[in-house]
Amino acid sequence: MSASALHAAEGRATGKVILLGEHVVVHGHPAIVAGLDRGVTVRITPGDTRPEPPADGLSRATARAAELLAIQQPFAVDVDGDLPIGMGLGSSAALAVALLRALAAASGRVLDETTTAAQAHEIERLFHGTPSGVDGTAATYGGVLWFEAGTPPHHEALTLTEPLPLVVVLSRTPHATSHTVGSLRERAAASPRVYQPVFGAIASLVASARDALLATDRSALGELMTMNHGLLRACGISTPELDAIVEVALGAGAAGAKLTGAGGGGAVLALPAGDGEPLAQALRDAGHDCFVTTVGGTPQRRTTT
Ligand code: PMV
Repeated sequence: MSASALHAAEGRATGKVILLGEHVVVHGHPAIVAGLDRGVTVRITPGDTRPEPPADGLSRATARAAELLAIQQPFAVDVDGDLPIGMGLGSSAALAVALLRALAAASGRVLDETTTAAQAHEIERLFHGTPSGVDGTAATYGGVLWFEAGTPPHHEALTLTEPLPLVVVLSRTPHATSHTVGSLRERAAASPRVYQPVFGAIASLVASARDALLATDRSALGELMTMNHGLLRACGISTPELDAIVEVALGAGAAGAKLTGAGGGGAVLALPAGDGEPLAQALRDAGHDCFVTTVGGTPQRRTTT
């Protein structure tokens, strides 16, 4: 396969928000994740007309993707997208999946989804050490998913009876997933008697949130999200900035709000009680950068050649 010519191709993958269960998913509990309508597009052009790029994240991810797909021919990579980076919205997993899709299409192949998610997980290890795989799975499949880490990981699509509006609020502080995950892992290992019951409590919230989502019970879902935030805060994952955004969202009438992703910065997810736009406007009026999204809607276009 690697001997056949490459041709120009494009691959796309979307980001994600974790509705509930980040961090505990690394410790063997389920999480609920939803694909965003924002994402990353990678364009592959055969031949390499550019100077050698510096050894940054993109070039390491590209080299690993080419290695996984046994592609040896030279090519150039262009990346485009509308997904904020370093905000816990799955940009590195979306990049990995878009790269794999673009490279597979450029070499005349279609990667099945199981392989795509597994290879994206491999690429994510370059950035995050020991990721659960939730981001790569969300970037591969989209939709709203129940996810459990493992070998192999398990996921299940949750079919919502109506799309769910969410407001994603960007803090001013980018986060570092590997640092936040690593430091919680150390605290949990040092004091399992303290942390394991809290992880178990978050897992109960995740299970109840699944029922609330399937029953389209926004007020129950919101309450569970806010409780999840409180427990993540108790675990040392939040920051005063994220807590303040949660308070503004709740004060503006959100049904619930929590940090989303690894924390220590990044984004807050607010669940509007009604339409998303009035809540987003209240957050903007309070000086926060945010956007409204809808999860559980139609899947996105994935590759073009
Ligand atoms: O990198 P982020 O912010 O999207 O966080 C991913 C979710 C974590 O549970 C914190 C890590 C993981 O690998 O599941």
